[in-house]
Amino acid sequence: MKKFGLATGFIAVFLVSFLFSPRMLAQQDIQVPPPPLSEDFFPCMECHADMDPNPERRVLEEFHDDIELAHDEENRWCMDCHDAENRNMLHSASGELIKFEESYKLCGQCHGPKLRDWKAGIHGRRTGMWNGQKEYLLCAHCHNPHSPRYESMKPEPAPLKPGKIK
Ligand code: HEC
Ligand code: HEC
Ligand code: HEC
Ligand code: HEC
Repeated sequence: MKKFGLATGFIAVFLVSFLFSPRMLAQQDIQVPPPPLSEDFFPCMECHADMDPNPERRVLEEFHDDIELAHDEENRWCMDCHDAENRNMLHSASGELIKFEESYKLCGQCHGPKLRDWKAGIHGRRTGMWNGQKEYLLCAHCHNPHSPRYESMKPEPAPLKPGKIK
């Protein structure tokens, strides 16, 4: 009876330590709020199911004419990120489909160090418990994927010395 208790104890400790091992934590799901897609556009396949994909680089006139690509645009075009056959999805360079909820995987292919910082809560915004459930803002909540750069800010003038404030 005593032996059995000891063995169960060992198993319990083993299981608990496994649950909280860093490896398991790293594999936790990344929770995000809904991606900032406009209702007018999603689901994309409402229109695109009936259209032949047109991968040609061109000025879009019929639709999406407000999208201006300013993101390594000499080397890139729509279908490098959007899937031609299933427009409701993004895809990686190797063709693996990526949901809009996981668009950070797309960004991380080229911005590896930023993705690492983001996961660690250093870049972007992460909320939640230090040892439990966390929620992240997607890169796309802050960066427009079509034109992701932020304008650099003008520095404010130095503060006045107390004697000079009237
Ligand atoms: C209301 C209809 C409609 C919806 C919804 C829509 N599109 Fe389109 N899309 C179009 C039309 C029309 C064109 C062709 C525009 C042109 O050639 O000037 C187009 C063209 C495109 C293109 C250029 C390549 C091609 O096949 O012509 C991409 C990429 C694209 N859409 C992505 C999307 C994505 C991603 C969504 C969803 C987030 C979406 N679209 C939702 C109507 C739509
Ligand atoms: C660098 C990758 C990338 C490229 C290149 C790109 N897109 Fe996107 N696009 C995205 C991502 C990521 C989103 C999802 C943003 C979000 O979660 O709201 C998106 C969103 C969209 C949407 C939905 C916008 C909305 O307001 O809901 C449309 C439409 C679209 N893209 C069309 C295009 C077209 C057309 C082109 C080419 C001119 C293009 N995209 C090029 C990554 C890209
Ligand atoms: C296929 C590679 C590729 C993918 C995928 C990609 N980027 Fe980029 N990105 C680049 C390159 C190359 C540059 C530098 C050229 C430029 O700024 O246009 C860049 C520039 C940027 C910049 C500006 C950097 C600066 O120094 O100011 C930001 C921000 C950015 N990307 C965010 C994103 C986000 C967010 C996503 C996902 C929606 C994404 N990128 C997906 C290649 C990529
Ligand atoms: C909460 C908003 C927010 C989120 C989420 C976010 N960023 Fe940023 N990012 C910013 C701001 C603001 C800047 C510009 C200030 C700066 O340079 O630190 C920036 C700068 C950048 C730059 C260029 C500057 C540099 O330091 O090289 C890149 C590249 C970038 N972000 C990529 C990403 C990627 C990839 C993700 C997702 C994995 C992401 N960001 C998520 C707000 C965000």
